[in-house]
Amino acid sequence: MEKILTGIRSTGTPHLGNILGVIIPSVDIVNRNEKNSSFVFIADLHSMIQINNIKTIRNNTYQIAAAWLAFGLNTENCLFYRQSDVSEVTELAWYFSCFFPYQRLTLAHSFKNEITKIDKRKISMGLFSYPILMAADILLYNAQIVPVGKDQLQHIEIARRIASSFNKKIGKKLFLLPHAFFQKKTMSVPGTDGKKMSKSKKNWINIFSSDEILKRQIMSIRTDSKSLEEKKNPETDYVMYLYKLIASLEEIDKMKEKYLKGGYGYSEAKIALYELIIHKFSTERKKFFSFMKNKSLLDHILSLGAKKAKKIASERLNDIRKCLEFKPIKLI
Ligand code: ADP
Ligand code: TRP
Repeated sequence: MEKILTGIRSTGTPHLGNILGVIIPSVDIVNRNEKNSSFVFIADLHSMIQINNIKTIRNNTYQIAAAWLAFGLNTENCLFYRQSDVSEVTELAWYFSCFFPYQRLTLAHSFKNEITKIDKRKISMGLFSYPILMAADILLYNAQIVPVGKDQLQHIEIARRIASSFNKKIGKKLFLLPHAFFQKKTMSVPGTDGKKMSKSKKNWINIFSSDEILKRQIMSIRTDSKSLEEKKNPETDYVMYLYKLIASLEEIDKMKEKYLKGGYGYSEAKIALYELIIHKFSTERKKFFSFMKNKSLLDHILSLGAKKAKKIASERLNDIRKCLEFKPIKLI
């Protein structure tokens, strides 16, 4: 039995990229996995790197939780929790920080990309050690399968390096090497500007916004400037790209035919995509709003998951402490 683990930062409402890239494929494998072998969490500690208002992080946390539940995550079968409720992870992250070479961490994209964009004085230690905390999230539970999008592959590679160098140092196979799990076509879903859809780029399609806003987002997808009459290329257009990720084979074939024939405008294609999304995710949208109206239920579900996760995490952390020749902590 292999352990599965994944996390999403509470930096905003989950967008179509998060949903198609991680939530849908994860729910599928987590619900089929053996009971209590899957870990799904909300990375609120990671969110602190980007957002300094804890109230905002807390509200975003509810949105991420509601999205997982709306897409059918069976919380009886997995451990569903807030990262900050299982503080053992921060202790493990510290041990890893002391072992992992500084130089290697300067090569992480999460850090390298940001230093070119923002004032260097605004770069926190948290941003720098982001991949270390992520490695701790995974290795604390010895998870082997980690569903993520393309942008996280380097972080999984860093977690593998940390695991193997730590094992070597202590002369024991304490940590298993994790593998990223992804599907090629949904590992980097494009946003309305054609670049990777992201909460920070504001190029998202948010299926949990009102019909009107959702329509506006879809109508803003970038296309080329071909006129209504002209034939269009279904292989290079972003509206078609997104449509293909959601529609049935029959619907895709029909849409392709319209593109190739001409006399079919991009705005018609966008309306077709909007209607498809509204129809396809109508249950999930309803469920999302109903969970968002019941935050105490969300708190309750997350606290049950945290309780289970904390028990596993504290026992495992004691094993790690023993290997480091620290005294184990008395468990209650
Ligand atoms: P964002 O980049 O929008 O802030 P997160 O960093 O919280 O999203 O990502 C949560 C998970 O969703 C990660 O595994 C990430 O790789 C994945 N993900 C994010 N954006 C996309 C996308 N456009 N396509 C596919 N997966 C994505
Ligand atoms: N870094 C991931 C993101 O940007 C979130 C995350 C934190 C994560 N820890 C993780 C994902 C562990 C998978 C496994 O969304």
